[in-house]
Amino acid sequence: QGGWVLTATARSPTNIAVIKYWGKRDETLILPVNDSISVTLDPDHLSATTTVAVSPSFDRDRMWLNGTEISLSGGRFQNCLREIRQRARDVENKEKGIHIRKEDWEKLHVHIASYNNFPTAAGLASSAAGFACLVFTLAKLMNVSEDGAALSSIARQGSGSACRSLYGGFVKWVKGEAANGSDSIAVQLVDESYWNDLVVIIAVVSSRQKETSSTSGMRDSVVTSTLLQHRAEVIVPSRILQMEEAIKNRNFGSFARLTCADSNQFHAVCLDTTPPIFYMNDTSHRVINTVERWSQFEGAPQVAYTFDAGPNAVLIAPSREVASLLLQRLLFFFPPPPDTKLEGYMVGDTSILQ
Ligand code: PMV
Repeated sequence: QGGWVLTATARSPTNIAVIKYWGKRDETLILPVNDSISVTLDPDHLSATTTVAVSPSFDRDRMWLNGTEISLSGGRFQNCLREIRQRARDVENKEKGIHIRKEDWEKLHVHIASYNNFPTAAGLASSAAGFACLVFTLAKLMNVSEDGAALSSIARQGSGSACRSLYGGFVKWVKGEAANGSDSIAVQLVDESYWNDLVVIIAVVSSRQKETSSTSGMRDSVVTSTLLQHRAEVIVPSRILQMEEAIKNRNFGSFARLTCADSNQFHAVCLDTTPPIFYMNDTSHRVINTVERWSQFEGAPQVAYTFDAGPNAVLIAPSREVASLLLQRLLFFFPPPPDTKLEGYMVGDTSILQ
């Protein structure tokens, strides 16, 4: 047992919910009050890349995020590390002459380095990609044999939405019934090639960090919002069925109507929370207006919009042609200052990431 180091690297994209997860029925295990559906983005644009190294010379687990060391003491990191370690198996690397036995993993420490290929400060969901990638890379290094569903259930314990990033395409997070969370897993509805005409454009409305974390926001909503209760029990179950149907039939009109309605209802739940939570700002509302007026003029949904726990708009177009019309409209209504390079441009407090 000399100074060897063994590493594994993987990349996971982030995902955007089109039927939102909002509210936990168990905060420790991260069990949601309703099912949710998301689309996983192309890893070239918004993804985390993580390398995990193991060596007998490491004296403790450590992690760096975008080059800065962060604490691993939080329960969520510890839960993911523990769950994967418990499933670790023998690893043999003949080239390096390394043989790690199953029982050795309990004593070995890991160093984790994770990078996001997008500005972390841009207020874009990064925990989904981060935890999915962490769990997947640890599992790869430790030769864990569990399938995607079992890994999704571990990633869920890092960040709820992370469980959906274990798969590409459209993914459903089934809330499950079991008290221990064993059936609260992600299931792929269709893979990334099924509806690959869709184009996602993210308009970064503000790069400030959100003021209310999703954890505390959800907690307040669960305790105080009667709309959340109605949403979880009545609205979402029927919307999930309609959304699955829309995806299966590649029915963009229905997909867009459901996506926008669900985003708006999620933000209505936030307003129905005491104290109320405001994730969208005036610019977000102007983006919604721009899209709604366009769709109204054409007599059918042109693009879908959805907003998470922050003011940035995620816009989904049915084709490249419509995406370029959308960009033209965004540039018209949120005009860039003269001589601005369009790639990642900023206007007032609005920038557009494609
Ligand atoms: O997984 P969290 O705790 O970051 O919560 C994510 C919540 C939303 O992004 C608002 C909705 C969702 O389903 O991703």
